[in-house]
Amino acid sequence: MAFDLDMIKKVYSQMGDRINKAKELTGKPLTLSEKILYSHLYDGVPNEEYKRGESYVNFAPDRIACQDATAQMALLQFMQAGKPKVAVPTTVHCDHLIQAKIGAAADLQNALNTSNEVFNFLDSVSSKYGIGFWKPGAGIIHQVVLENYAFPGGLMIGTDSHTVNAGGLGMVAVGVGGADAVDVMAGMAWELKFPKLIGVKLTGKMNGWTSSKDVILKVAGILTVKGGTGAIVEYFGEGAKNLSCTGKGTICNMGAEIGATTSTFGYDDSMERYLRATDRAEVADLANGMREHLTGDDEVYANPEKYFDQVIEIDLDTLSPHVNGPFTPDLATPIAEMAEKAKANDWPTKVEWGLIGSCTNSSYEDMSRAASIAEQAVAKGLKPKADFGINPGSEQVRYTIERDGILDVFEKLGTRIFTNACGPCIGQWDRAGADKKEKNTIVHSFNRNFAKRADGNPNTHAFVTSPEMVAAIAISGDLGFNPITDTLTNDKGEQVKLDPPKGEELPSKGFDVEDAGYKEPAADGSGVEIAVSPDSKRLQLLSPFAAWDGENITGAKLLIKAKGKCTTDHISMAGPWLRFRGHLDNISNNTLTGAVNAFNGETDSVKNQLDGSHGAVPDVQRAYKAAGIPTIVVGDHNYGEGSSREHAAMQPRHLGVIAVLVKSFARIHETNLKKQGMLGLTFASEADYDKIQEDDVFDFVDLKEFAPGKPLTIVAKHADGSEDNILANHTYNAGQIEWFKAGSALNLIKKQNNA
Ligand code: F3S
Repeated sequence: MAFDLDMIKKVYSQMGDRINKAKELTGKPLTLSEKILYSHLYDGVPNEEYKRGESYVNFAPDRIACQDATAQMALLQFMQAGKPKVAVPTTVHCDHLIQAKIGAAADLQNALNTSNEVFNFLDSVSSKYGIGFWKPGAGIIHQVVLENYAFPGGLMIGTDSHTVNAGGLGMVAVGVGGADAVDVMAGMAWELKFPKLIGVKLTGKMNGWTSSKDVILKVAGILTVKGGTGAIVEYFGEGAKNLSCTGKGTICNMGAEIGATTSTFGYDDSMERYLRATDRAEVADLANGMREHLTGDDEVYANPEKYFDQVIEIDLDTLSPHVNGPFTPDLATPIAEMAEKAKANDWPTKVEWGLIGSCTNSSYEDMSRAASIAEQAVAKGLKPKADFGINPGSEQVRYTIERDGILDVFEKLGTRIFTNACGPCIGQWDRAGADKKEKNTIVHSFNRNFAKRADGNPNTHAFVTSPEMVAAIAISGDLGFNPITDTLTNDKGEQVKLDPPKGEELPSKGFDVEDAGYKEPAADGSGVEIAVSPDSKRLQLLSPFAAWDGENITGAKLLIKAKGKCTTDHISMAGPWLRFRGHLDNISNNTLTGAVNAFNGETDSVKNQLDGSHGAVPDVQRAYKAAGIPTIVVGDHNYGEGSSREHAAMQPRHLGVIAVLVKSFARIHETNLKKQGMLGLTFASEADYDKIQEDDVFDFVDLKEFAPGKPLTIVAKHADGSEDNILANHTYNAGQIEWFKAGSALNLIKKQNNA
């Protein structure tokens, strides 16, 4: 599982120079976030000062991590690039496709039975292209990354929103769509809008029942689910140094819940301890020689208002345990107020389940603190009122807590130990009775608590809190139980109080593991066969999209004129379709089925110009494709907002849509269209949207002169014989026009490789 020491050495060797150049350029001291960003510019040293929240900048990430659900399409695409190996160190982690039900062994076997072809595919592609492969059961992506790969001052991307967890080890780590990951795997730059910066100053030291989780639960309450959008949250101050490295990871992890691009902490002794405990003394030694570059400048932290766009201060001495929810992670309630608030809002106070784990809170420290509460329950004659479940974050953590008797403590309480995987955190929980949709309450130490997220029941009220608070509340069975002040009745009828949790930051006997579940890629992958059955319903090898034939496109028909909101969910729905994420043709059967047709106000019902009938969007589009007729999609404002999933561009492209013409685009989707070799265009005059009619046919009359900054002209021919000339703006630069000509960005890379 070797981390790449040479890569880290290279990053560090150029960091100082680049940071100094950035300081000269900006004429000011720098935050840690700026130091990491400026030292990871794709084109080396900076030659201009970037405007936060405005400039789009090309970066060169050091690492990539993918989870099994998103890796499928990312790797299928990477295979198209014609490269023998990934350009930067990459790992794949099988953690999302394992359902929690009975317990670790049976659940893992069940996942192998149902998803083995996906796991085998990911295994063989990883082996072939130099990607580290973490098998099902090895652990949850972000815990495994923190334990093995994260390093102070690094820049990484990952195809999962909680990639940000690695900020706990001083990285700038960002969750991205598969298309971005593929670019970087293929050696291209990763583009990001230079983020704004939010500083969080932590003072004091936590005590009693308060934990790192409460810092982010408090921050979420202050900033709300949108407050961090487009920003990096940088934590600093004496209080930050008093937190463990994994505790910092928890805080960064849930930065995703406030919409932050990522969160990070400066390098300190807690990180050094964690690096050494996880067998990375060489990285700690290197980082120790770089300390000044791996944290923000003193002046920045002394006068944060001058250097951050927003500053928040939290005093850890007085911070109390929080329980956030239900249904949103920013509804923050200090535990002392919960009983009253639950009553006022009619939240069920009887707690049915307490779940500990997930990528957010499954460190050794978390488990040992929660176990100290469970141990007291046994010793004091308390029988838990709620069921307990645990998802350890990694096999290394699981093995070590088993060795140290921690698992045993939980097992004595009848806890169900699930696989080292996401499980209930991503709705992979076959919870008995959930289908009855009864109103009920669960508490967990995860990050997200949206309706249906854990068990599919929209009436499950899920509350997020620290692992030790989960343990206390689950033992009491009462959402309003405040362990700081309240007592519980034991089996002798006595009133007993739980003492505050005690835990070890790191195992005193060190970490241990028999088989971490890692598979090294083949030294020479050229002979590795990729296992995909042609009959598979879940996986399909991609064929390159056709290159542009150099001619103006004529006779294109209107597939749909979408009205109002059309997000990537409307273009490629999630839910049951998730299982086809690796099969482009099958998943294309959901294309645009959520978009509202402007002519009849309905979803998934558009006119088929070939016979005048109305049909489902994918069916009508397939009829055009069969007839060899290109089509266009017309849309409203902010078309393609939402998740960055590349399927929303690939599916229309696969089915034969050649252009998307809208009032405005969500930027990532616009870029995804460009990457897939489509025309992403905007009306020069928004009023022209109203001119588009249901039976329109379109000619692109000057496509042969496609050039940067030059609008294209589209002639819309109406059924009554009249015509409108529509002027369409675009944002293609010269390189992106080459993507269009080649049929896709990956086609172009392949062509360049072969040249
Ligand atoms: Fe998995 Fe939940 Fe984290 S889905 S990656 S454990 S947020």
